Amino acid sequence: MHNNDMDMENRIVAPEFSPEDEATENPLRPRTLNDYIGQEKVREALSIYIRAAKERHDPLDHVLLAGPPGLGKTTLAGIIANEMGVNIRVTSGPAIEKPGDLAAILSNLNSGDVLFIDEIHRLSRSVEEVLYPSMEDFALDIIIGKGPSARSIRIDLAHFTLIGATTRSGQLSSPLRDRFGVQFRLELYNTEQLASIVTRSAGILGIPIEHDGAMEIAARSRGTPRIANRLLKRVRDYAQIMGNGIITSEISQIALSRMEIDKLGLDAIDRRMLNVMIKLYNGGPVGLDTLAAAIGEESVTLEDVYEPYLMQIGFIGRTPRGRVVLPDAYRHLGIERDGQMEIKHE
Ligand code: ADE
Repeated sequence: MHNNDMDMENRIVAPEFSPEDEATENPLRPRTLNDYIGQEKVREALSIYIRAAKERHDPLDHVLLAGPPGLGKTTLAGIIANEMGVNIRVTSGPAIEKPGDLAAILSNLNSGDVLFIDEIHRLSRSVEEVLYPSMEDFALDIIIGKGPSARSIRIDLAHFTLIGATTRSGQLSSPLRDRFGVQFRLELYNTEQLASIVTRSAGILGIPIEHDGAMEIAARSRGTPRIANRLLKRVRDYAQIMGNGIITSEISQIALSRMEIDKLGLDAIDRRMLNVMIKLYNGGPVGLDTLAAAIGEESVTLEDVYEPYLMQIGFIGRTPRGRVVLPDAYRHLGIERDGQMEIKHE
């Protein structure tokens, strides 16, 4: 249980984007709504909004995409721009440091263009304040000079579409959130959907794969396409070296167990988190910050990255007094729940 055993940077089931994903993620990204698998409600609604806006020759309303990392928020922004037939400019909350940075980006957009701001909850207050009027009035008010001679000039902007993505919609200020006419929350994918994504990706990458092989990878991808695609690449390596190149169920199982990813997609860090909750806090309730400190992780990472999947599979629950480990997790880890209680009362 030393840090190098569970190096966060190299965690293969990390849903965050890593530079290595870029090379493979790009050709794998669907370009049209038709090629996008899952998120049915979002897809149906978007296809209506896009068709209607195009028919009226209007830009699309501003769109907010919320949800855990790795579910395809950036992909969806690219699809929206593609379907609208406009350009997309991609940036992120932390990258826009000063109001002037945002002004430069906004004044370079053409009518209808999409501006995609990832991690929009991380915009600074001063940048947010420039963004509101830009979203609403498509104008920038810039103050020139200082003191009594200062004056404000207004720059008209093109009618752009802002697409904001966030893992924490609760952290957005309400004036910002209210200016998005369209708001979606992306959900974790089920195993069948992930298997379809894996099969599609394998087709694009020219990897032979059997249905059961795809299902095995899908079941261990924590509801997250980015993880599924990453595991596909690693399992392909095992298939090539240890098998005949075809991804079968058996090769997938061998590969994934060598990577210490269990049947449900939990890795060493997930198991450690559950073990700490059980062993040190008797299964909870334990406060998020306390838990984060105990496993040497940031609270936001626990909340955004680990919890969504553990909650989805019913392994942990949230109570007003903190997080609790649920019975299915004890069963999965092979830990006797009552035994645990008895030890405490000794
Ligand atoms: N790759 C990542 N997300 C995807 C999705 N929802 N559909 C198809 N391919 C994807």
